[in-house]
This record gives sequence, C-alpha cells and structure tokens, in this order.
Amino acid sequence: MRKKIVAGNWKMNVDLNESADLIMSIKKIYDHNPDVEVCIAPSFPFLKESSELCQGEKIKVLAQNVNDNLKGAFTGEVSIHMLKSINVDGVILGHSERREYYNEDDDLLLRKLEVSLENNFKVYFCIGESLEDREKNNHFEKVKNQLEKTVFKIDNIDPENLVIAYEPIWAIGTGLTASPEQAQEIHKYIRNLLSERYGNKISDNTSIIYGGSVKPNSARDIFEKQDVDGGLIGGASLSPQDFIDIVRSI
Ligand code: PGA
Repeated sequence: MRKKIVAGNWKMNVDLNESADLIMSIKKIYDHNPDVEVCIAPSFPFLKESSELCQGEKIKVLAQNVNDNLKGAFTGEVSIHMLKSINVDGVILGHSERREYYNEDDDLLLRKLEVSLENNFKVYFCIGESLEDREKNNHFEKVKNQLEKTVFKIDNIDPENLVIAYEPIWAIGTGLTASPEQAQEIHKYIRNLLSERYGNKISDNTSIIYGGSVKPNSARDIFEKQDVDGGLIGGASLSPQDFIDIVRSI
C-alpha cells in the first residue's frame, strides 16, 4: 500500500531560531500516526539542528535542493553525502521555483534524480503546469512531458524512494487551490502514466501528493480523493497549528 505523506516546504522563510521554534511547536501538538509520513524541509544551514530536534519524533527532514555531483570543485553547492551525514532523509527536486528562478531544466533535474536514487536518497519530485498551460487545456501534455524527460528516463523506480508531487504553478503561493476534482483528475492521469511505464504494482505503490495553497480548510476534501496521497505544503507549513491540522486531515 502506498504511503500518505504531508511535507512542509519552508522555502527561504525562517532563520535558526524560527526553525527550532517551529519544530518545538510542531512536536508539542504532533500525535504520531504511523499511517502518515510527516516531513519538513528547512534551509540548508538548519538541517543538522533540525534533524537532531526531530530525532525519535518520526518527522523526516528533507533538503530543498542537492547538487547533481557527488563531490568536487562546485563552490557553494551541497552533496547527497553531506546531507546524509547529517541524517537528512531526502530532497525536494523539480520545484517550479527552482525551475523558474534557477533555470533547473529537465536535463539537470534528471541528473539530480538519477544521482539521488542511485545513492538511495529519497526524492520528492515536483511537476506541474503553468496557468497558461491550464487555460489552453495543455496541463495533461505538460505533466506527461515533464515526466517523460525526467522520471521516465529511469528504468527502475522504487516507490519507497520516489514520491511525485503534482504542483500546478498557478496554485503555488497564490491562494488558488486546484479543486479536489481537478487534483483527482490529474493525479489519476499521472498514476496511469506510471502504470504504462512501470506496471500496476509500481503505480499503485507510488505516492502522488498535491501542492499549491493547501490550507487546513481545503486539505480534507483534496486528501479524500482516491489518487491524492497527501500534500506538499508551503505557506501553511509555517504555522505549526495549520500544518498539524493539515496532517490530521489525512
Ligand atoms: P504553497 O506552496 O502551499 O505556499 O502554495 C506549495 C509549494 O510550493 O510546495
């Protein structure tokens, strides 16, 4: 059975003290549910402290980026081994903000994906269409194309190590959320693509989570949909109560 997942993407929003406070507040109200994987993604400088604070809490700590090389002269970059050495559990890749502002294209994302999976580092891989794509009814083509140029280039995937996050760009940080029906429609489409590429066993076991302005009052209806296995939460993950309310909506 595939996992339910709620991951908080803190982006570039909180400093050391704020990160620690957020984790402490989450820990106070978080009642571990073995059926839901809860993750947070703090910024690089706070990952070590965050992973120490989360020890024993069953909260996974993710990085927001990783380099596609394992070691070497890459000033300013961070490798998988570095992250693993401080007990970081995985990485968010393909986020639209990285694609758009840092020119991360499908080729680079494929390399990051390959090196992560080869090194047993779990990937939360984001795909999603722009508003223009959606308005032109191109959203199915767009996500298919993103998958074909990245994930589908890999012959063997392990659902334990790869989560797909469908994040329509028009819903990220805008307050606009895909309706539960829109989310279900495209999640089902993504699952069918996974099934065509890898067979039913893999597609049934791969978690596909939704991201884009999920709030406590919208989470339940979206998470109830059959092919939505949880959420990638930006803004609302900066409020411990909202984040935990979202986790409890699963
Ligand atoms: P949001 O961000 O919840 O603030 O829309 C989601 C994301 O970027 O993952």
